[in-house]
Amino acid sequence: MTPFATQHVIEITYLVATALFILALKWLSAPSTARRGVLAGEVGMVLAIAGTLLHHGIVEYKWIAIALVLGSIIGVRLGMVPMTAVPQRTALSHAFGAFCVTLVGTAEFYLRAPQVPHFMMAVLSLEVILGGLTFTGSLMAAGKLQEVLPQRPITYRGQNFVNLSLLAISLMVAARLVLHPEQKMLFPLIIVIPLVFGVMMIVPIGGADMPTVISLLNAYAGLSAAAMGFVLDSKLLIIAGALDGSSGFILSVIMSKAMNRSFTNVIFGAFGQVQTTAGAAHEARPVHSATAEEAAQILAAANSVVIVPGYGMAVAQAQHKVRELFDALTKRGVDVKFGIHPVAGRMPGHMNVLLAEADIPYDRLLDMDAINPDLPQTDVALIIGANDVTNPAARTDQSSPIFGMPILDVDKARTVMVIKRSMNPGFAGIDNPLYYLDKTLMLFGDAKGFVGDIVRELTGGSGH
Ligand code: TAP
Repeated sequence: MTPFATQHVIEITYLVATALFILALKWLSAPSTARRGVLAGEVGMVLAIAGTLLHHGIVEYKWIAIALVLGSIIGVRLGMVPMTAVPQRTALSHAFGAFCVTLVGTAEFYLRAPQVPHFMMAVLSLEVILGGLTFTGSLMAAGKLQEVLPQRPITYRGQNFVNLSLLAISLMVAARLVLHPEQKMLFPLIIVIPLVFGVMMIVPIGGADMPTVISLLNAYAGLSAAAMGFVLDSKLLIIAGALDGSSGFILSVIMSKAMNRSFTNVIFGAFGQVQTTAGAAHEARPVHSATAEEAAQILAAANSVVIVPGYGMAVAQAQHKVRELFDALTKRGVDVKFGIHPVAGRMPGHMNVLLAEADIPYDRLLDMDAINPDLPQTDVALIIGANDVTNPAARTDQSSPIFGMPILDVDKARTVMVIKRSMNPGFAGIDNPLYYLDKTLMLFGDAKGFVGDIVRELTGGSGH
């Protein structure tokens, strides 16, 4: 092929890859099309790599082949982590991507300096600064989630001032380099300071806030890749980076809203520490509890049931038992739906993924806004290992730390049943007034075991 023809093939490959990335994001936004979305993203990435390998600038493939094999081995191993480890796995991917962006930016600078035009130097600096802070920030986030680093927020006086100063210094150095790219000795500063900033930025953030932070780091990684696109004159990288950056940002906004938190609060608030004392003062209050047999009778007599899953269902891996319960009730003519809160569990889409794994029909999974109007006409709201996302204090108690957080209005159902092991609080560390209502029955036990017992009662002993 002539160089001209090859260039055309590359451009077309990139165009198709770009279209596939956009379709992937669209399809990923609904559970029923999510698998297609993943496939579209994968095919797009293969095309992007193939197009890049056709470039005339490549004189030898040996090192590329070695890197491809090594990268694939690491990638396959990383992909085989359990579902609960997906947030930290994602953080590691961002760290790798950001590290790569920083290395490319550094190489480009030393190849071009001192002849670096102003605009080029500006995007190059942005690339290296964002890449550096995302690299160490993502490693820290992964370490906190994997519990190899302390999860609790570590704070000290003047912390925000120190952190913002580090960022400001690197921006000032970058501005100096834009004006004087020949001052090569300044360049290492815009690598090292952001690397330190990445660590310092994550230190005050609690482990439980990490999913929000990771999606924010995702946005930074995307933006740094887009900046790299300008440096390398690659439209594909600019578009893919911008898509990555904006989708990460949108996800962070959705998560913050659903947790009733602002970005600044997540990043500067030192929130997210596990609180365990708040519930203790209320433990003496009486609650009504029931057995699996009683719960099964109530469910069998209901016309409509809304199941609300939460973090406890994930911990207990109860999704397959929940599927059996869904089948048993549906067979008896009960209308069963699922109410999904956007931040139920510990990662975006956590409940959707688990319920999809158990083959619960997608049309039975309703988002919070869709299910809330149904709850006042619902006979039974069955809560399985969820707590904060059902806490009516968010609606009624202005002094509550979660006041204003949108919740599933399960307290409006005719009967409420809650499967959990104890009266212990959930992630927010606060008591849940739902448990003391006259219409609420507490079903104390492990989610998997208790749901299994209910199924057995409903199916006359065959529910295994
Ligand atoms: P939580 O409020 O954390 O409550 C989960 C409940 O499950 C606990 O009260 C616990 O009570 C129970 N549980 C734990 N293991 C169980 C088991 N094996 N069997 C039965 N029950 C079990 O969960 P949620 O309602 O899903 O709310 C999620 C919380 O996490 C929100 O506060 C949200 O802001 C936060 N958060 C979410 C995300 C994302 S992206 N989803 C990210 C960060 C933070 P017992 O100990 O008594 O059993």
